[in-house]
Amino acid sequence: MLLLLLLQVSATCLWLGRSEVVTSFQGSCPQFFFRQTPPNQALEPQNPAWICQHYGNQYYFATLYDRTRRIPVYSAYVYNPTSCPRTDPWMIEPQLVGLNYNKSMEKTRTFLKEGNVTLKQLGDSQAILKDYKSLKGLHRGHLNPCGHHNDSSSMNATFTLTNIVPQDENLNIGAWKNYEQQTMKNKTQGCKTTYVVVGAVPGNNYISNGRVNKPSYIWSSACCEVDNNHRKAWAVIAENDKNGVTLLTLGGLENRLTQLYRGNPVSLFDSACPRQ
Ligand SMILES: *[C@@H]1O[C@H](CO)[C@@H](O)[C@H](O)[C@H]1NC(C)=O
Ligand SMILES: *[C@@H]1O[C@H](CO)[C@@H](O)[C@H](O)[C@H]1NC(C)=O
Ligand SMILES: *[C@@H]1O[C@H](CO)[C@@H](O)[C@H](O)[C@H]1NC(C)=O
Ligand SMILES: *[C@@H]1O[C@H](CO)[C@@H](O)[C@H](O)[C@H]1NC(C)=O
Ligand SMILES: *[C@@H]1O[C@H](CO)[C@@H](O)[C@H](O)[C@H]1NC(C)=O
Repeated sequence: MLLLLLLQVSATCLWLGRSEVVTSFQGSCPQFFFRQTPPNQALEPQNPAWICQHYGNQYYFATLYDRTRRIPVYSAYVYNPTSCPRTDPWMIEPQLVGLNYNKSMEKTRTFLKEGNVTLKQLGDSQAILKDYKSLKGLHRGHLNPCGHHNDSSSMNATFTLTNIVPQDENLNIGAWKNYEQQTMKNKTQGCKTTYVVVGAVPGNNYISNGRVNKPSYIWSSACCEVDNNHRKAWAVIAENDKNGVTLLTLGGLENRLTQLYRGNPVSLFDSACPRQ
């Protein structure tokens, strides 16, 4: 009976087709994960959306989104750094409103016009710009940062609110920025390809009248391919109310996340990435 139900559900999904909010990243964006292997289910929230982040005519990264808390669980991308010249415009995800809407991220105004939906409908499905207005001590913190991409489209694509969390402003412009810019540059010396999974642990506080969660921790992990036979990995975690990051091994971060989520053991990368 359960099996039948599952078959029915998946048939319905197939029939609805075309949307990029899917039940996994396998269809459209496995390429952003080392060996096409996303993190295991231990981080999945009750009400998830798997977003293959699409902008213009291409995919640029992948995000597991928590629809209830209206923040990403993590974003995954390939590291190709330059410096980021810009800070707007911000975009939203039409596809979170309903399966029949555009799979490309868009500016709010564009979408409300073409989609014939209200700001209320949009806001029910995800965080909107208004949620991030007049914050005190918090920034719109990118998980996947603009500065880790090397062309204007992929930089633009990081400015979707589904890739953003309320982040301590001193952390964002201090130790976290230093990790993104200096430590990453240092650590990736000799790396051919570096895969990153960067995420946020939900906290007990909310902004915008309880609409958007303020994470308790922000973390990042990397698996670098030096060549076909050599890989290295590293990770960091930061409390989201202090200006400091702690450098860890990949295994160390996975253990920490397993504790923080109080669930099954967390695995962020394929087992070929070294844990020590
Ligand atoms: C979907 O979004 C893309 C990129 O913004 C835009 O070019 C296209 O016109 C949109 N399609 C529809 C059906 O609204
Ligand atoms: C827009 O939506 C409203 C309410 O759902 C509907 O009455 C109206 O006909 C729609 N307009 C267009 C142009 O689709
Ligand atoms: C961006 O990075 C990719 C992958 O490393 C590389 O192939 C490409 O040439 C780079 N593009 C620019 C404009 O630097
Ligand atoms: C990136 O965004 C800027 C600002 O809106 C825009 O001028 C530029 O055309 C965008 N680039 C691409 C490649 O979409
Ligand atoms: C860069 O890495 C080396 C060894 O991996 C380390 O000794 C050095 O302190 C690092 N420098 C910075 C600025 O992080």
